[in-house]
Amino acid sequence: MAQKFRRIGVLTSGGDAPGMNAAVRSVVRSAIGRGVEVMAIYGGYRGLIEDDVKMFTERDVSNIIGTGGTAIYSDRCLEFKEEPGMQKAIATCKKYDIDGIVTIGGDGTFRGAMDLTKRGVACIGIPGTIDNDITSTDHSIGFDTAMNTVIEMVDRLRDTCESHARCNVVEVMGRDAGYIALQTGIATGAAAIALKEIPFDEEATIQKMIKMKEQGKRGFIVMVAEGLEGYGPVLRQRIQERTGVESKYACLAHVVRGGNPTLRDRLLASRMGDKAVDMLLAGQSNLVICERKGDIVPLDIHYALTLDRMYKGKLKDGDLDPFTPEQIAAMEEECAAKRAAFSDLYDIANLLSK
Ligand code: F6P
Repeated sequence: MAQKFRRIGVLTSGGDAPGMNAAVRSVVRSAIGRGVEVMAIYGGYRGLIEDDVKMFTERDVSNIIGTGGTAIYSDRCLEFKEEPGMQKAIATCKKYDIDGIVTIGGDGTFRGAMDLTKRGVACIGIPGTIDNDITSTDHSIGFDTAMNTVIEMVDRLRDTCESHARCNVVEVMGRDAGYIALQTGIATGAAAIALKEIPFDEEATIQKMIKMKEQGKRGFIVMVAEGLEGYGPVLRQRIQERTGVESKYACLAHVVRGGNPTLRDRLLASRMGDKAVDMLLAGQSNLVICERKGDIVPLDIHYALTLDRMYKGKLKDGDLDPFTPEQIAAMEEECAAKRAAFSDLYDIANLLSK
């Protein structure tokens, strides 16, 4: 029988992402609408450890659907990973009768959610990260906004590159994933895109740029993903030396993490927040709410995290043991499809950058 919830919590954890506020608003209003109280937990899991919580009403989430950052703050809380920290968190849940928590963030957030669920506090995760590096969901909250910010910035760089016949090597966030670089590279007509997932042919890029220059091209944009760690400035130097095109380097960094969420992110966050509450109140936990082929669907958190490690080539011995051969085959198929889609997009980017 479904557990009867009287009060749940909501938190945002890890790197913030535009649209997290829209998700918090959705969780709060969806729960209150179903007769359940909601406590905001400030600063991610740290709020549970330090007893930093507050009862929210519908009014506490007024006018935040369109704001960036997270109104209930975020943190990457190392203390929560240790048993004493975890016990403090559980004590806070008991103190306030918090029966379940909706946790909004990335894979680290979901691991925390699993740990809490194991110790009796039912958790459901919502993917919120600009990197879009949660394999189980087609889109995470914040990704669309971040990309729109990138293209706005790069369009500006493009103007000045064109005026001065320069190249701008632009580095964008994405520690483990090059989705932002790939999609914004296409959308800004980048001459080349360098990212971790696909070997970058530097020589071919330089030759292509030389040819384009001979044909009369003046301004160049080259996108580099953060995951390539320090490659941006190196590439800038080499492009300048080899092509003779004066080159600048711009690292967009955290600029891309802020700002008002796009319609897409507000909608995604609103749908995911409502689904998380729906599932939690139905007695479910240990789920990640995903967008899969346009639908908002719950997925087992352990399955989602394992799929994620498989896609990122980070599986450890024994990771697949709890899964059936059919489940493992489904994961492999999904990873292969994701890789193929990524590589298709990369091919399109190359084909169109002439
Ligand atoms: O995970 C999101 C992200 O923005 C990554 O792209 C980036 O590497 C990281 O967070 C930066 O983290 P911090 O805000 O702690 O510097």
